[in-house]
Amino acid sequence: MQDDDKRLAAEAAVAEVQDGMLVGLGTGSTVRFAIEALGRRAAEGLGIMAVATSIDSAAKAAAAGIAVRNFADVAQVDLTIDGADEIDARLWAIKGAGGAMLREKVVAAASTRMVVIADATKRVDAIGAAALPVEVLPFAREFVTARLSRLGARVARRAGLTDNGNIILDARFAVFPDADTLAVAIDEIPGALGHGLFLTEVDAAYIAHDGIVTRLER
Ligand code: A5P
Repeated sequence: MQDDDKRLAAEAAVAEVQDGMLVGLGTGSTVRFAIEALGRRAAEGLGIMAVATSIDSAAKAAAAGIAVRNFADVAQVDLTIDGADEIDARLWAIKGAGGAMLREKVVAAASTRMVVIADATKRVDAIGAAALPVEVLPFAREFVTARLSRLGARVARRAGLTDNGNIILDARFAVFPDADTLAVAIDEIPGALGHGLFLTEVDAAYIAHDGIVTRLER
C-alpha cells in the first residue's frame, strides 16, 4: 500500500518532465519509482538526461536506460525529483535518512524547480520529529558533536560513510527549535558540511494517500 502510494506520487512528478530536460534524481525508495517511470518514458522516446544525487541513484538510472551526466560538469538542472523524511504545509522538509542530503541540497539549489514525492506517512503538521542528519568532516567529529549538543540536540553517529567519504551525525531534539535559526546555526559550524533541513528548496510536493495524489505548490 505504502509502495503503491510512493509509485503514484513518483509517476505524478515524472509527468512534469518534458523533452530536452536535464532532470535531477534524488535518492531513496520513493525516488526508485520515479527512476523506473522516467526510464519507461525515455524508452518511449522522451529525450532527457539526468544527474543523480547518489551513487545508488546513478546506478539505478543507468540500469533504467537513462543517460546520466556527471553533476560536476553541470551548473543548472531543469527539474529535480526527490523524496523526504518529513514535509509540512509550508513545504519545509527534513531529508537525509538515506544519507544523501548534502548532494541533494546542491542539486536542489541548482534546479529551476524541485519537487518532493512522498507517501502520506511523510506529511506532518510541523517538521522536527525525525532525526536531522548532519554530514560532517570526519576530522571535525567531536567538535561538531559538541556544537550540535550545545544547540540542544542528542547526537548519534551513524555507521558508515557517505558517498563523499564523510560521517553523518543524527541530531534529535526534544523540542524542535525554530527551523530557520537552527539551519543558520548549523551552517555556521566549521566542519558541518551540510544538513537535512530544506526550508527554501522545495517548490512543490506530490503526496499520495490511499491512491489519491495531492499536489502542494509553494
Ligand atoms: C536520502 O538521503 C533522503 O533524503 C531521501 O530522499 C529521504 O530519506 C526519503 O527516502 P525514502 O523515499 O526512502 O523514504
